[in-house]
Amino acid sequence: QVAAASGHTVVLVDQSDEILKKSTKGIEESLKRVTKKKFADQPEAGAEFIKKTLKNLTTSTDAASVVHSTDLVIEAIVENLEVKNTLFKTLDKFAPEHTIFASNTSSLQITKMANATTRQDRFGGLHFFNPVPMMKLVEVIKTPMTSQKTFESLMDFSRAVGKSPVSCKDTPGFIVNRLLVPYMMEAVRLFERGDASKEDIDVAMKLGAGYPMGPFELLDYVGLDTSKYIIDGWHSLEPSNPLFAPSPLLNKLVEEKKLGKKTGEGFYKYK
Ligand code: 3HC
Repeated sequence: QVAAASGHTVVLVDQSDEILKKSTKGIEESLKRVTKKKFADQPEAGAEFIKKTLKNLTTSTDAASVVHSTDLVIEAIVENLEVKNTLFKTLDKFAPEHTIFASNTSSLQITKMANATTRQDRFGGLHFFNPVPMMKLVEVIKTPMTSQKTFESLMDFSRAVGKSPVSCKDTPGFIVNRLLVPYMMEAVRLFERGDASKEDIDVAMKLGAGYPMGPFELLDYVGLDTSKYIIDGWHSLEPSNPLFAPSPLLNKLVEEKKLGKKTGEGFYKYK
């Protein structure tokens, strides 16, 4: 959405037409929200902006067949290294020499994905934040193999889509998630111990620390499955680090398919 809105030609790829239909609908809804604000007094210019953005966006279920004409691939699939590497290996065969590959992973090592391809120097991390149309940050991740030219292209692209990039080494969680995820897990542990209610913890962090959402609202917003993938991955890397300890409550909710806002229930219920 943000790439198309800033004039880039985008092909959105997913596993089925059904998912793509849902994604396109989500983008249309989000564009309406952005337009309402950006073109408050110019409804015609707003309608034109939406039309132009959607014209820049096509969809496909076959990544291999569309990658031949792309300069940049941004992968944002399931947080599973094997699945990501299988995709990157396929794309590596069909993509032009100059194409840069980037992963939007929340917690996995970029280096391990780059090593699945033959373009380690043209591989980096491009980590966006939910909700992407609103959040101004992008973390640009440089592995020891990422070339300076690739790094600069990723920084330039981030600016071209209207974001403020920061750079970070290929370290677990980069900057934001390395601080944010242990904080959210500490909130769950506080609640699990019965020290405070989840509602009070959320109010406390909003009114006492000025956060726009409390930790339980944010966990539901990000997705409990995503949060569990992140913490489980780090726990297996560093089993003795108490900040990365799994939470029985989080595990139970994920097992019950209560994944947060997207499934209608997580820590809270949604209509
Ligand atoms: N698309 C377009 N616009 C959107 C939007 C979307 N998906 N979501 C919200 N907005 C707009 C609304 O239209 C609204 O615009 P307005 O000011 O013109 O009315 C504006 O954002 C504010 O929205 P709301 O009034 O509904 O609610 P808030 O004031 O609470 O703002 C929020 C919503 C921007 C999501 C804010 O609550 C927030 O910043 N929350 C924290 C988000 C955060 O921490 N994200 C990072 C998560 S970690 C992550 O993503 C990393 C990953 O690896 C796990």
